[in-house]
Amino acid sequence: QQLEKANLLKAYDFAAKLYHYILGNTEQGKMAKGYLVSRGISDKLIDTFQIGYAPTMWDTLVQQLEKRGFSLPLMEKGGLISARHEGSGYVDKFRDRIMFPICDPTGKTIAFGGRSMGDAQPKYLNSPESMLFNKSRTVYNMHQARPHMRKLQQAVLFEGYVDVIKAWEAGVSNGIATMGTALTKEHAALLNRNADRIVVCYDGDNAGQSAAFKSIPLLEEAGCQVTVAMLPDGKDPDEYVSTYGFDRFVREIIEPAVPSMKYKLLYIRKNFKLHEDGDRLRYLQAAVKMIADLHSPMEREHYLKQLASEFPDSSYESMKLDLHEILLQS
Ligand code: CTP
Ligand code: MN
Ligand code: MN
Ligand code: MN
Ligand code: MN
Repeated sequence: QQLEKANLLKAYDFAAKLYHYILGNTEQGKMAKGYLVSRGISDKLIDTFQIGYAPTMWDTLVQQLEKRGFSLPLMEKGGLISARHEGSGYVDKFRDRIMFPICDPTGKTIAFGGRSMGDAQPKYLNSPESMLFNKSRTVYNMHQARPHMRKLQQAVLFEGYVDVIKAWEAGVSNGIATMGTALTKEHAALLNRNADRIVVCYDGDNAGQSAAFKSIPLLEEAGCQVTVAMLPDGKDPDEYVSTYGFDRFVREIIEPAVPSMKYKLLYIRKNFKLHEDGDRLRYLQAAVKMIADLHSPMEREHYLKQLASEFPDSSYESMKLDLHEILLQS
């Protein structure tokens, strides 16, 4: 078991180096390089994140692994290659994809995310879970972000590989990503061990915003202080950087991240027609209920006052009465 793990780690390390070499030094890699450049990913970033390219042939990696004496059944068990559907033998799992190595906290490659450049589905093919890779305990870029997270006691949480990479170039050195999967309790505990404060910076589309809303209680229960960075027009961080540049991304998106309570109030607001009396009342009731969940009386008062000032025709005193009633019931 330990020996299998060690061999599989060696194989993942070899594969990452092979894919990175192919991207930078071969004719086949040129198109992939062109794709990355068109997305604003420079040579320097390609090196920092050890990005690679898995060529179109059926067995580039299989042949190289075999030549080096790796056990192919073990490589298959470890999710690095696939058994042929018909007959015997093995084929590469990743073909014609940009390869993003996923590392453990010490920087060893334990899985890959592979992006297709064309219409091939799925857009991202990820390594399956294995003796090395547990999705719900792994965040992308932990090995490079961790020293910065610890020093700043802050982490910026993204959805995807490219968001982390673009943000890194913008100077966000404490960026990590959950790689599309919903944030788990284990992720939250892992983040909390390394940073007190988390800035959630998920995509601006509905899926991203709903995921951000759901991540808040998980992170807070793990002990983190949470703020949320909001992206306009359904954009994701990578698209925002491409459109507006690195400086504006940091100044207009990361720095103005709002406290989780403010974000939650803005988020639920979209479901109410605030110009209609009935809906406005229901929003206020839902908002007061959320505010009642805050542990600190000072914070409760702060948000209640803010709410009252936003809706001048509903008095602060009556909101306070509602709040007290909720607190008495709980
Ligand atoms: N993801 C995945 N499988 C998919 C789609 C997404 O594993 N079929 C993961 C990837 O880690 C991806 C993240 O979810 O980075 C966020 O998904 P999405 O926002 O759709 O992709 P982007 O990161 O924006 O990808 P790109 O910019 O390359 O289009
Ligand atoms: Mn290199
Ligand atoms: Mn998304
Ligand atoms: Mn995205
Ligand atoms: Mn994107």
